[in-house]
Amino acid sequence: MASPRGQWSGKLGFILAATGSAIGLGNLWKFPYITYENNGGAFVLVYFASVAIVGIPIMVAEILMGRKSERSPVAAFQALAQGKPGGQAWSLVGFLGVLAGFTILSYYSVVAGWTIHYILMSTSGKLAYLAQDPVALQNHFGNEFLASGSKQVFYHLLFMGLTTAAVFAGVQKGIERVAKVLMPALFLILITLVIYSSTTSGFGDAMAFIFKPDFGSLTLASTLEAMGNAFFSLSLGMGAMLTYGSYMGRDISIPKSALQISLLDTLIALMACVIMFSIINTSGIAVSKSSTILFTTIPTVFAKLPAASFFNLIFYLLIGFAALTSTISLLEVVSSYAIDNLGWSRHRAVATMAIAIGAFGTLSALSLGANSTLSSINFIGKGSTEGVFGTMDYLATNWFLPVGGLLIALFAGWIMNPRETRSELEDGHGEMRGYSVWQFLIRFVTPIAVAAIIVSVILGKEYN
Ligand code: TRP
Repeated sequence: MASPRGQWSGKLGFILAATGSAIGLGNLWKFPYITYENNGGAFVLVYFASVAIVGIPIMVAEILMGRKSERSPVAAFQALAQGKPGGQAWSLVGFLGVLAGFTILSYYSVVAGWTIHYILMSTSGKLAYLAQDPVALQNHFGNEFLASGSKQVFYHLLFMGLTTAAVFAGVQKGIERVAKVLMPALFLILITLVIYSSTTSGFGDAMAFIFKPDFGSLTLASTLEAMGNAFFSLSLGMGAMLTYGSYMGRDISIPKSALQISLLDTLIALMACVIMFSIINTSGIAVSKSSTILFTTIPTVFAKLPAASFFNLIFYLLIGFAALTSTISLLEVVSSYAIDNLGWSRHRAVATMAIAIGAFGTLSALSLGANSTLSSINFIGKGSTEGVFGTMDYLATNWFLPVGGLLIALFAGWIMNPRETRSELEDGHGEMRGYSVWQFLIRFVTPIAVAAIIVSVILGKEYN
């Protein structure tokens, strides 16, 4: 049956699109800098554990709910909760997801837009020139670029335009096609940069920093931060994976896909750390504000190389590509709500939502321009409530995603019938050996771990 909702062409299309959603600023920007702040080693291990006990179980739950209902979050909860305890109230979890997608995309695309500015500065050679003097580059980034409201709005809207074009074209012809071009390019660029960093003198120290655990430096706050970032990085808690799962055929194994997506996402976060720490170590530049490494420190190191502009270009293309496949998934969730629940055509849904999010996002863009200094950029869940940008980020990463994730885990673990979940996971693939492990995690371990994040947010102890 040809589904009017669209479908992936096959396993590769699904895996690349879902991995594309997962890999983004969360991996390439946030993970390296929080790893840096939390002293590497032990933090990385805690992150692995979070992916295993919180991330993978929720990803399995989301994909299975999407494929079973063949609907996006709101309609999926409506269909799956029928006749179950709580009934239609569960659809509020779907709405929370749509709200989270709306909110995250509105400020995420502001940061994503920066990559376009950096790509253009790379091709013109301006970035390599500015970066010869670290202070000049910092001035440009902080005082000229961030402080310019019109530039912030312009690049934000440009990035929204690219995102809209892809989602507008449909699941297979747009989202999947873009992922099939950008993801291989992204892997190639990452591998090139890892090879380059392995030739630098800072590589050995970087590897030791990332892989030698020092448990003495681990705190409860850093444990919770690792867990929170696993959520964001794997695109969980708002139904993005659920929506992508709803376009997935029954010939694809859900548990295997969830494992593959999570492993790729984690591997790439580690590669980003290797690249960035090698470069920073080699440069000997003191990092004062680790959250701005990406836009201030990296080009100053590349500036010393003969092919500075080439390295600048592939580096910011990498980040731009990663961000684009993520913004696409965010817009898809919001749009598919209007398609499934309001009966709108894809074109009408995507255009309307994109305009609404673009308009709302200008507030975030302007809030940076109005009151930003380098030090106030605390992107993604750092608990900063400064400006519209900081507030949206705070709400989404500290509240919407954990609460959504907790409720998704409870629904899949306790409300859905084990017979239903098992048959969806095993459908066409024989008995799933890990089923009882998944069930135990999603019923007990995952909810408790996510509840701990929420409690820490309530107590205001998060991320400090
Ligand atoms: N995972 C992406 C990143 O690491 C961001 C993202 C895309 C996201 N879709 C999402 C985060 C859905 C949470 C929910 O940058």
